[in-house]
Amino acid sequence: MNPIVTRVMSTLAGQLGNPHGLLGKGVAAMLDRGNRAMVAGAVEAAEVAPGAAAADIGFGGGVGLSLLLDRVGAGGTVHGVEISPDMLARARSRFVSEVGAGRLRLLTGSLTELPLADAAVDAAITVNTVYFVPELDRACAELARVVRPGGRVVVGIGDPAAMARMPFTAYGFRLRPVADVIGELERVGFAVEDRVIEHRPVPAHLLVARPSGS
Ligand SMILES: C[S@@+](CC[C@H](N)C(=O)[O-])C[C@H]1O[C@@H](n2cnc3c(N)ncnc32)[C@H](O)[C@@H]1O
Repeated sequence: MNPIVTRVMSTLAGQLGNPHGLLGKGVAAMLDRGNRAMVAGAVEAAEVAPGAAAADIGFGGGVGLSLLLDRVGAGGTVHGVEISPDMLARARSRFVSEVGAGRLRLLTGSLTELPLADAAVDAAITVNTVYFVPELDRACAELARVVRPGGRVVVGIGDPAAMARMPFTAYGFRLRPVADVIGELERVGFAVEDRVIEHRPVPAHLLVARPSGS
């Protein structure tokens, strides 16, 4: 591949995995626009009730935080977890009043080591994030740890075959078969439903995971 194209694709892939700097601002806005329907689908599938405690892990530009805040209402709490300091700073300035009121807690952390107590949330979403996580088993175990019995976790991923046709995914994305992600979620005790939604340019899988036996 042309070295300039290679450089652009690898920069884009790096930004998607950890948006930062000036370029990160544009990437955050692009994520919010491009992924809004998929994130909204995940929020819907999570069946977040008014007054609930919810989390968006790897919230990027923050569209999921905004949708979750609307769903939980004045009596609920949203936890936003990110590894990117710039995305945390963006959310802090975008949601000043919600943070001030204690309705939104913004936390530095990783899917593989969530800064949340056991059974802390009724619902959690994590959308377009697992491509950047080598230890999927640890991430799934953490999701199982933080959701309460009877709660729901929704893991949103692009269809791997369609994702593989996007040139930037060759630069470090882990495009696992959907069955592998479902298998890891089942292994840590979730019952999983795979809902496929039309999403452009890549169809999306919303893996709706409920702790088994609840
Ligand atoms: C492609 S963006 C998706 C953002 C948003 N969820 C969406 O769908 O628009 C991936 C986000 O996950 C974050 N991320 C990457 N690895 C992570 C990890 N191990 N734990 C938490 N967040 C992570 C990145 O910083 C980035 O903001």
